[in-house]
Amino acid sequence: MTNQERPSYDTHALRLLRLTQGVWITQAVGTAARLGIADAFDGDGKNLDDIAEATGVPPGPLERLLRTLGGAGLFTTTATGRYALTPMGECLRKEHPCSLHHLAIMQSSSWHWRAVEQLPQVMRDGTSGVRNPDGATGYWHYLASQPEEKDTFDRAMAEFATGLTQPLLLSYDFSGATEIVDVGGGHGALLGATLQANPHLCGILFDLPDTAAEAADRLRAGGLARRSKCIGGDMFEAVPSGSDIYVLSSVLVDWDDAQALRLLSNIRDAMGPSGGLLSIEPFSDNHGAEDGSYHLGQWVDLFELCIGGGRVRTRSDFQSLFSAAGLRIRRILDENGPLSLMEIVPR
Ligand SMILES: C[S@@+](CC[C@H](N)C(=O)[O-])C[C@H]1O[C@@H](n2cnc3c(N)ncnc32)[C@H](O)[C@@H]1O
Repeated sequence: MTNQERPSYDTHALRLLRLTQGVWITQAVGTAARLGIADAFDGDGKNLDDIAEATGVPPGPLERLLRTLGGAGLFTTTATGRYALTPMGECLRKEHPCSLHHLAIMQSSSWHWRAVEQLPQVMRDGTSGVRNPDGATGYWHYLASQPEEKDTFDRAMAEFATGLTQPLLLSYDFSGATEIVDVGGGHGALLGATLQANPHLCGILFDLPDTAAEAADRLRAGGLARRSKCIGGDMFEAVPSGSDIYVLSSVLVDWDDAQALRLLSNIRDAMGPSGGLLSIEPFSDNHGAEDGSYHLGQWVDLFELCIGGGRVRTRSDFQSLFSAAGLRIRRILDENGPLSLMEIVPR
């Protein structure tokens, strides 16, 4: 039989097969992060025994994991059998400027799996909301009782903000403002970068008390103690008043319309007539998925659907929501990007 006559694989079926194994990619990348495998590299290639010794992982299973992650594009092997990180693999290192180390751990953690497992049930009966071991739904309640998971979550969010949100926020012109408030600002990665890039600005970070306390330590360590203040509290009760610009980055996505409206009304009351709000979110009506390309918002939306409460919104969802809170969208930056920045002003 010649090569031309030999039956070939259906490439569509092979692509689908790869998708069906996606769960293994998540777990393999998350496991490599947990074990500190990428952190065992220090710029040079390493042989298997070096990596095994640095991580405490037996060489047998380690070789199999490295081989598989090599196929996924994280490692290369040299002719002499040494392993090296690819530029993508470098992003799994904790110290990389665009690290996704904690994000990889969080995506493969058990509370994320519980959301994933929920999808068939949500599709069948339409009830959204993960049932956590404590019986509550949603993830804020669960994380509140799991300090280690919440810390990993906060670190993951800081990585996401540094890699994806920060370039968008830093392209905004803050020259007319003197003080900003980052509501739900996490560990302060965004506020810190914004203050560093705009030496005339002062900033307030508002978040849950433990997270705000950690942010204060980090902003202090970054030399920003004098220009920043961190306040712990509940954004559904009230937010600090009187600032020029309020920032909500990846916050509205976690809440249903009633809660989002309550939060936006608190911000509208706090900002005064000449204030503004910058809301950074993905749009669910952006294109991108049909050709197989990655669409951040669509996958986040499935997570929100399963975990309960939030959603990735369309442009028109946002218009209705802001309008109900007495606000309107003045312009949108990076409208077709993975995240977009909406500049919001009072109506
Ligand atoms: C998805 S994270 C986004 C963090 C950050 N803005 C970013 O872009 O990476 C949502 C943030 O909202 C905070 N948060 C949740 N509920 C809150 C509440 N009731 N009051 C204040 N902050 C809250 C969380 O602690 C978390 O830092």
